[in-house]
Amino acid sequence: MKVYLDNGATTMVDKKVVDSMLPFYVDKFGNASSLHQFGVEAKEALDNARKIIANKINADPEEIVFTGSGSESDNLAIKGIAYSNKEKNHIITSKIEHPAVLETCKVLEKQGFEVTYLKVDKEGFIDLNELKNSITNKTCLVSIMHANNEIGTIQDLKKIKDICKEKNVYFHTDAVQSFTKVEIDVKKINVDLISFSSHKIHGPKGVGALYVKKGTEIKKLIHGGHQEFDLRAGTENIPGIVGFAEAVRLGNKEHVTSMAKLRDKLINGLLKIKDTQLNGATGNKRLCNNVNIIFRYIEGESLLLKLDMNEIAVSTGSACSSQDLRPSHVLTALGLRADVAHSSIRFTLSRFTTEKEIDYVLKVIPKLVEELRQFSPLK
Ligand SMILES: Cc1ncc(COP(=O)(O)O)c(C=O)c1O
Repeated sequence: MKVYLDNGATTMVDKKVVDSMLPFYVDKFGNASSLHQFGVEAKEALDNARKIIANKINADPEEIVFTGSGSESDNLAIKGIAYSNKEKNHIITSKIEHPAVLETCKVLEKQGFEVTYLKVDKEGFIDLNELKNSITNKTCLVSIMHANNEIGTIQDLKKIKDICKEKNVYFHTDAVQSFTKVEIDVKKINVDLISFSSHKIHGPKGVGALYVKKGTEIKKLIHGGHQEFDLRAGTENIPGIVGFAEAVRLGNKEHVTSMAKLRDKLINGLLKIKDTQLNGATGNKRLCNNVNIIFRYIEGESLLLKLDMNEIAVSTGSACSSQDLRPSHVLTALGLRADVAHSSIRFTLSRFTTEKEIDYVLKVIPKLVEELRQFSPLK
């Protein structure tokens, strides 16, 4: 049985999504900026996709900017705000952000910006008081992710926004992992900028979006044509955008409930193995599809390879750092020692994950852990 439990890295494109995209490669291949019928057809598809994504978060369609990835959305949000604020040069983020945010902040530091990296507690939550105390009259932006990609901890966006509002600072959140899994209503939370990515929700790769609240002053990063409300030049990827919108349309609450049930079954089953521990928060403060477990005394990489031989795909750390031998910056920020961080495995479910698959994983893992521990120098 082949079991894919690395949906935090990427997901299978839903066949219905593929079907929605296909006409836009051959029959309806127009450029959305062209004035003829082919262009009009493409523009209609683009507008419709924008409406679907806007509706999902209770935004206006003009507030959705399509990009090429979640990483690009993060870059546009952070650099876009930083470059448009001449007098303010301070940004606040957290230590557990995705590299798309952290590396962007590092680039800005080299350009003279100051960045505060907030610490997190054992479960991965930021300290709201530390946030409040870190904001100065030089702060232009707070960027805190909605749900963490490694440990699934969900931050309280409303509380963060309330602090930012009081201090008159823009708030960006990276919702790449939480989109369609945790409800986002921009009228209720009032966030200024939100990053999304299509390939994490059964849409195609190479498509993202950034929600930009009306009135937010932001500089574009890619210059050329005036596409995307003059915030991102380049001919729009109509098939990709149509697929992204279809993926958003297909996501629903029942999927979330069933993933959470299987997540808890997997967590409870794995915690029965001796010397294991859960990383991150529990219940509805944790993403419905994320399980991150420490298997003491073994290397996560060795377990990953053994699982791969049994046709079970998982990850250690996030996909982007899988070539990196340093312990995960997220796990060390929780206070874990490097060797303990190295013994963690992330399992990420999707709405296509079945109970049979979870049963298979729970049958296979205890034996593999025992085998690896027998030869462990760490014990
Ligand atoms: C939280 C988070 N932000 C941003 C990204 C980057 O998204 P993309 O792969 O679309 O560039 C990822 C991908 O793993 C992610 O998990």
